[in-house]
Amino acid sequence: SRAISPDVANCGPVELPPNAITEPFCCPILPSPLKIKDFKDFAKPNAPLRVRKPIHLVDDEYMAKLEKGIAIMKSLPKNDPRNYIEQAKVHCVYCNGGYPQKPPFQNLKIDIHRSWLFYPFHRWYIYFFEKILGSLIGDPDFAVPFWSWDSIEGMQMPKHFANPNSSLFHNLRDPAHLPPYIVDLNYHVGADSTTQDQQVSYNLAFMYKQMVLANTKEVFMGGVYRFGDQAQPAIGSVEQAPHNTVHKWVGRADLPSQEDMGTFYTAARDPIFYPHHTNIDRLWGIWTSLDGGRQDYRDDQDWLDSEFYFYDENLDLVRVNIRDSLDTKKLGYVYEEFEIPWLNASP
Ligand code: C2O
Repeated sequence: SRAISPDVANCGPVELPPNAITEPFCCPILPSPLKIKDFKDFAKPNAPLRVRKPIHLVDDEYMAKLEKGIAIMKSLPKNDPRNYIEQAKVHCVYCNGGYPQKPPFQNLKIDIHRSWLFYPFHRWYIYFFEKILGSLIGDPDFAVPFWSWDSIEGMQMPKHFANPNSSLFHNLRDPAHLPPYIVDLNYHVGADSTTQDQQVSYNLAFMYKQMVLANTKEVFMGGVYRFGDQAQPAIGSVEQAPHNTVHKWVGRADLPSQEDMGTFYTAARDPIFYPHHTNIDRLWGIWTSLDGGRQDYRDDQDWLDSEFYFYDENLDLVRVNIRDSLDTKKLGYVYEEFEIPWLNASP
């Protein structure tokens, strides 16, 4: 097989952009001796599914669970892999070249962005975050809601994230983009140009372009990336925008890489990362259902065999592959059916 699999035992410092605001160390603490479990925690056939809902329609009581879970994660000791910053570092290590490929390609550093690893990596990452959070608040049915910036009511920062007393609040964000300011799904840093009343219809037409018109796996999912290949072969449509652009829109326009959300090494330090990515994960599912069923890479063995490592809620280091990520019901969750206002927004 020519599937990508990180050499977890040889994690090293990450490559940071110029004027980075953190140290280059994102490697997780490894169990010693190194003990790895293969993922087996599939949902039981009749067990209740966790339901991820649109965040602006979730009530305060439910949001309080998310707030509590994040507060607990922030309070855990640094040497606990469930610690909030440790979780953010998992994203950093897979994004900024912390892991080499296995020999003889140890000089090639892995990056899960700008390639066909983008959707499945983030699916697994959010999966473990959700399970850890649910276990810490004693609610295994807890599901991370999604920030539906592709729906008309969802096109602004969800209000709980802008409340300075909430654990969801984060300092390193663009103060000009607090609610009710409408997000620009094709944002360019420092260019808030389109007037706000045009923004909604612009966004819907943009979603149509990135989702409906992106009708091949190469265009939507990103480029093929196998063992021995250079990182970042080609970026997918939605990964480029709205994914990257919403990251940049949330972060501070006056910092060198729009920290924290605007750059990979710090993005997951901002709690809004998680509902942003549940929406990205939801859009993968929607894309595959368009036109009566679109093909992603699931007939390619190398894609299916690609591997990642995460700590689970029991503090076990678990090896997962892409094959096991394809059916979200097997992972115990679904998305609530919700409006798709851009489906017919052909420009
Ligand atoms: Cu790994 Cu939203 O980025």
